[in-house]
Amino acid sequence: MSDFEHLIPAMADKSRSMSDQERKAWLDTPRWLTYTRAKEIDTKLEWLYGHPRVTRMPNMLLIGRTNNGKTDLITRFASRHPPCDNAGGEHINVPVLVVQTPPKPTEAGFYMELVRPLLRRLPNGSADTKRAFVMGLLKGIQLKVLVIDEMHNMLSGTSQSQHLFLNVIKYLTNDLQISIIGVGDQTLINAFSVDEQLQNRFEPEILPRWDRGKEFNRLLSSFELILPLRHPSHLVDPLLSMKILSICEGTIGELSKLLNSAARYAIDSGIEQINDVVLTKCGYRPPSERKKAVLEV
Ligand SMILES: Nc1ncnc2c1ncn2[C@@H]1O[C@H](COP(=O)(O)OP(=O)(O)O)[C@@H](O)[C@H]1O
Ligand SMILES: [Mg+2]
Repeated sequence: MSDFEHLIPAMADKSRSMSDQERKAWLDTPRWLTYTRAKEIDTKLEWLYGHPRVTRMPNMLLIGRTNNGKTDLITRFASRHPPCDNAGGEHINVPVLVVQTPPKPTEAGFYMELVRPLLRRLPNGSADTKRAFVMGLLKGIQLKVLVIDEMHNMLSGTSQSQHLFLNVIKYLTNDLQISIIGVGDQTLINAFSVDEQLQNRFEPEILPRWDRGKEFNRLLSSFELILPLRHPSHLVDPLLSMKILSICEGTIGELSKLLNSAARYAIDSGIEQINDVVLTKCGYRPPSERKKAVLEV
């Protein structure tokens, strides 16, 4: 049996030729592993993108706990539909716009976030003036889908400011005939439930916490194929996979962080595989422990 059969061929070559230092540095490069739920959500995102402009546009709430891959999904969606030149037009075309939500939301602050990625400034004046400017700009770039990341921040204000914000959302989707994708945690669903019309038009898509089973094993196998270790770890072994899931507390971001820490330890120690001992000794701390430590400061 030849070496490195537990890795994809490109990774096997790298693992053979790279130094320990290089292998550890490689662990920090961004990576994307596909999984069924991501594919399903991608399909829905593309459906929204291709939807003709109608009076009542369909919208989406992409819901999941922090570090479970929401931003990665929408970033990949946006990069499939990049801005393009609009020959003869005043503006470039921006079919998909991703904006962040300011942690302390105000109407003007939200408008500022909408124009920031387009390198434009808001005019001085009333909220109405600012809104009119934003509407004109978003029409000009022929926006199709607006993604609002960390949208639950918008709803952290008073019920009056929440109401105002939800009205702005309604106004944007109706007037511009665009689809809006609100990205956030569970609280976002609660906030939308106060308005029946919005609730009906924003379909929740959940990115659930990972659990034991075929899908999780598939994900572990995908990780194993690309972690540059010299011996197989058999991450799908029932005891090992159970331990991994319980330490990382079920999000893909924490899983990735845990496996990176374990792989680094496996390289430094010469063990060259992830096993029970490596998981215990690699120095990774689960999110709940980190939170507790902060509270105790
Ligand atoms: N499909 C994926 N494959 C590998 N790693 C992923 C994947 N999706 C997310 N991650 C990892 O999880 C981390 C958190 O993802 P992110 O999209 O920022 O989560 P969220 O927006 O839900 O808080 C990312 O930095 C990345 O390392
Ligand atoms: Mg995010």
